[in-house]
Parts: sequence; C-alpha cells; structure tokens
Amino acid sequence: MVMAVALVLMVVASLLFHFLSPWWLTPLASNWRQMDDTLTITLVVTAVFFVAINLFIVYTLLRFRHREGRRAAYQPDNKKLEHWLIVATSIAIMGLLAPGLFVYAAYVTVPANALDVEVVGQQWQWRFRYPGAGGKLGRSSIDLVSAANPFGIDPRDPAGQDNILVNNNELHLQINQPVRMLLRSQDVLHDFYVPPFRARMNMVPGMVTSFWFTPNKLGRYEVLCAQLCGVGHSGMRGYVVVEDAASFQKWLKAQPTFAQAMAPPAPVAAGAATGEALVAQGKALAESKACVACHTVDGSPRVGPTWKGLFGKTETMENGTTATVDETYLKDFIRNPQARVVKGFAPMMPKIEMSDAELEALVAYIKSYGTPAATQQAQQQSAPSR
Ligand code: CUA
Repeated sequence: MVMAVALVLMVVASLLFHFLSPWWLTPLASNWRQMDDTLTITLVVTAVFFVAINLFIVYTLLRFRHREGRRAAYQPDNKKLEHWLIVATSIAIMGLLAPGLFVYAAYVTVPANALDVEVVGQQWQWRFRYPGAGGKLGRSSIDLVSAANPFGIDPRDPAGQDNILVNNNELHLQINQPVRMLLRSQDVLHDFYVPPFRARMNMVPGMVTSFWFTPNKLGRYEVLCAQLCGVGHSGMRGYVVVEDAASFQKWLKAQPTFAQAMAPPAPVAAGAATGEALVAQGKALAESKACVACHTVDGSPRVGPTWKGLFGKTETMENGTTATVDETYLKDFIRNPQARVVKGFAPMMPKIEMSDAELEALVAYIKSYGTPAATQQAQQQSAPSR
C-alpha cells in the first residue's frame, strides 16, 4: 500500500513539476521550430508511457495484493498479449524517432544562399572567419597556427587573402540570412551552441563539421560551449549579435582581412598604447582569451592563481625553487605555461598564441593588480637602469 501511494505521488509530482517549472526554453530566435516540435513529441510520448506504466503498477499492487486464503494464478506466457505489446511499443518508438530523422535531414541540407561562417574553438575561446569579396574561405591548417596567424590560414592560398577575421568572441550575423556554420577545433572537442537558435554541433579536432540556421530575431545572444572541454569550459563563452543588413555590413567592413592582419605593423604602432590604454586592452584580452575562466582579480582562488597581489609576489615552484613574479616571469609563463609548475596548482594552463603587443597589454593588466608595495618597488628598481 505504501508503495502504491508513493508511485501515485511520484507521477503527480512529475507532472506538476513539468507544468509548474520555471525553467522553460529560451524564446526561439531561428528557423528551427521543428527542434521544439520534436522535443514536444518526445516529452508527450515518454510522459504517456511513464504515467501509464506507473499507474498500471499501482493497479496490480492493489488488485493482486496478498490476502489470506487466496492463491496466485500462474500463467507463464500469453502470446496474444505479447503480440499486442510488441506492436504498441514499436509504434511508440517509431513515433519517438521518425520525426527526428526528418528534422535531421533538413538540418544537413544547406540552402544554396547560405553565407559561410567559420568558427574556431580553442581552450577556452572563440574566433570567427568570414569569406571576403571572393566568397570563399581559404585553406587552413593547424600546423600554420602561430601568434601572427591564429587561424592557421594558408598564406599561399589566394582565396584566403580577403577572408575577414574576427579574433575575439563576438560574432555578428544578418537577420533572415541563412548561415552555414563551419566548425573547427584546435585542441579538444568543443561544441558551438546558442540556445535560442536551437542549433549546435560538436567541433572535432582534425575535421570541419557544419550545420545551418537562419537567425530571425534581432538581439544579442550568448554563445556557450556545450562539450566539457577542460577546467575553463564554463568560461568558454561569447556573443552573437543579430542585426539588420546595414549594421552588419558596416561591422563587417570594420574587421581586418587576412592580408591586412599579416601585413607588418606600422612603425608608429610600436609603443603607441601606454598606461591606462594598455591596461584596458589587457582587460579585454583577459576576457576574450578566457583567462578570467581560471584567474580572478578579487583574490578568490580558482583553477589558477588570482591576479590580485600576484605581481611582485615570490612564487614557490613544485620542485622547491622560488621565483619573483615580474614582467619576464609572466611573459615566460604565458608563452610556455607547461615549463614550470607552481606549487599548489596543476600544470593545466593552455598555451594561447598571442602577439608581443597582446602579451605586453595582458602583463600590464596583471601588473595593475599587483600588491601596491611590490609594484612601487619594481618601478624604483627599474628606474635607475633606464
Ligand atoms: Cu569548449 Cu567546453
């Protein structure tokens, strides 16, 4: 009797939870209403069977419970009942799976007018590439990845020269323009996922995976990584801005092409950013390169050491040696994070390709959170040598 009551309560509580739960899907912002419909079909089919099976168990518990002087009938099989059950479950399972096959067929059939957009995932950051006027993405290879060429685009391929590069975590798309997302990963499995678009795909190192969708609502949506890809996984975020054609074209024109990005920097650029501007640039880098997934600036510990009071501190290594955290130490560590292991931390910091200018900015930002005394001392020490 207790069991029967418990089962009824479980069924009622599950149904109430479903209808009263505050956790609903985010509003749909793409063409993929079919994804929601498939989810609804799955929920309805599984719910019907969940309720029916549990209530049937309740019925049998009550109907056939032990009573003094009554004997159970023994019936080893029942052909008619078995046939009936096989037909019913087969129909239900087909009802569950068949709609998904049709949706998947649509998901992999890309419309002819789709714009290609490449997404490159790396622990724990996103970057994006668009074809330029030529309409083609140039060849790329993981072997060609360097600080100057983070996308690994082949400089010998003419098709890649006009490609438009977005070396940060914000992607822009034009409303009602179908896009084919081409996904690459530089290290481990990632998954590009924007919940309101209802579309996602794993990113597999060594291959290009793809899916398509049409964004149909203006807005700024959060990008998540939907594949557990290491300690910084939860920090692997970005944004997609869906805007009208004019704003999109304006934004796209402001982004550098591969040829521009590879051109040697103008001599004026060297040493141009100083002081606050450099720190601000470092802050933006810490966010777009997902350093903030592992390092805080408020003193609270996370996967890596906090940056508060780090500059000027003496760190002890796993092998017992000590080192003062100064600019050289930070640059060496970021350039080659696995060379030394700081006591108390696991050697799991990924190597992130950065130009010298970027490294300078990031170190300036970390320095701005150093202990005031240590920062002052460092400045005094370095002053006479200049
Ligand atoms: Cu990338 Cu999780």
